[in-house]
Amino acid sequence: MPDLSVQLGPLKLKNPLITGAGPLAGTADHIRACVDAGFGAVCTKTTSHSFYLQRYPRPLYTLVDYMKFRENPYYVPRDYTWLHREHNSFIPPDIFVNIIKEVADYCHDHNCVLIGTFAGRGIAEWEKTVAAYAEAGVDAMELNFCCPFPPTELVADPEDAFMGIEYTKHPEKGGEVVRRMKEIVDIPLFPKLSPAGGDFIEVAKIFKQAGADGLSFFANEKFMRIDIETGKPVNYGPCAGTMPTIKAHTLRWISDISLATDLPIIGGRGATRWDDIIEFMMAGAAAVEMCSPIMLQGLGYVKKHLQGVEEFLERKRIDSIQSIRGRALKHIYTAQQMIDDVKALYSEIDMLKCIGCHRCTDVCVYGAIQALPQKARILKEKCAGCTLCAQICPVAAIDVHERDNDDDHFRALAWEHQEFFPELFKDVQNKKKPKKTKAN
Ligand SMILES: Cc1cc2nc3c(=O)[nH]c(=O)nc-3n(C[C@H](O)[C@H](O)[C@H](O)COP(=O)(O)O)c2cc1C
Ligand code: SF4
Ligand code: SF4
Repeated sequence: MPDLSVQLGPLKLKNPLITGAGPLAGTADHIRACVDAGFGAVCTKTTSHSFYLQRYPRPLYTLVDYMKFRENPYYVPRDYTWLHREHNSFIPPDIFVNIIKEVADYCHDHNCVLIGTFAGRGIAEWEKTVAAYAEAGVDAMELNFCCPFPPTELVADPEDAFMGIEYTKHPEKGGEVVRRMKEIVDIPLFPKLSPAGGDFIEVAKIFKQAGADGLSFFANEKFMRIDIETGKPVNYGPCAGTMPTIKAHTLRWISDISLATDLPIIGGRGATRWDDIIEFMMAGAAAVEMCSPIMLQGLGYVKKHLQGVEEFLERKRIDSIQSIRGRALKHIYTAQQMIDDVKALYSEIDMLKCIGCHRCTDVCVYGAIQALPQKARILKEKCAGCTLCAQICPVAAIDVHERDNDDDHFRALAWEHQEFFPELFKDVQNKKKPKKTKAN
């Protein structure tokens, strides 16, 4: 059986799956349920001293486009938007510390790492709470530099609204928090970034220099959907969102930061299935958080996702998931490769396989495919070799070949404007010239 354990900086997790901070781990019972579900680590609901952020309006959660895809076997389709108005825990930090004390042994007895999260306003709040969490038994802290809606408009003193997302937007301030926390506690610290920051590589470097043991990203951001029947925005304002398709953005930053620093990364936002766990790790993540998908799927899906990961590793004969971390990074396309890879291709239809659906005719923007009755035909001289037709043909009737000569390729691209490229088309033009007859 493959080894699912991963190294997250100094922490060893029995598997890479972590609860994304949120209501899944908002009370002692919930945390124990997450442990029982099989997570490698549980990240608790963020607490803060902001009274404003401890209160939420209703409805709390809104799913857009979710029911369109309810037949999906994973219950979480690939295209929906989750919008919510849930901010920090309704339980203040001083009380949440008791919850940590209550569950710490349970987590450790079940080989589950316990990660606390807190969003502070000013160093004094950070010091008090992070020290109290460490004392209560957390193995690590996510420093909440991500909560998107500090109560800026509602407080007289801007310092009282400098929290969450502000620390990603102003990483030098976040760096000060990390530096000070490293002086007072000896547990690993993972700043959690907001996707609304700027140059995350720069941010990562600042936090690394300040002593961060790793990074966690991303949290939610402001998304907008509109109900076109009513013309009203859906759950929009100081509300946050996530969606499976945002995964591509998260992956991009996991890989960029992995290439730029050696900080271990907790990747999250948009991972909804077992194969996403693999993808995140191949991009460089050391572990993977899931929040909203598990809320939708139910805790039973933790084991299913881990089973999916295990089966994949077995199929690929990989002994340890740790070995796939960052596997994709060395294959990232470089500018030099882009030049080296310029080549001339053309596509060809296998008439025996073609069922004449004409999907290829619709997608060829180069006008290189002719619809024939029950079949289609590619005009080689016009084919730009983009390969789109071969990718959408439902019966794989289209093969892609390399051309013998580059001129044919450029000719295909310039086909409509032969008059501007007389040299390129001289043989074609010659062929087109009408034969001389006695009459002329
Ligand atoms: C209902 C809900 C509550 C959340 N609460 C917190 C929180 O308290 N602290 C935090 O850092 N992130 C919070 N998040 C963000 C998640 O931890 C996670 O970063 C985000 O949802 C993206 O991951 P996902 O696509 O797996 O949901 C919350 C997300 C949701 C959906
Ligand atoms: S998409 Fe495939 S099957 Fe359909 S017409 Fe084109 S080649 Fe034939
Ligand atoms: S490869 Fe591209 S350009 Fe060539 S026929 Fe197919 S869709 Fe058209």
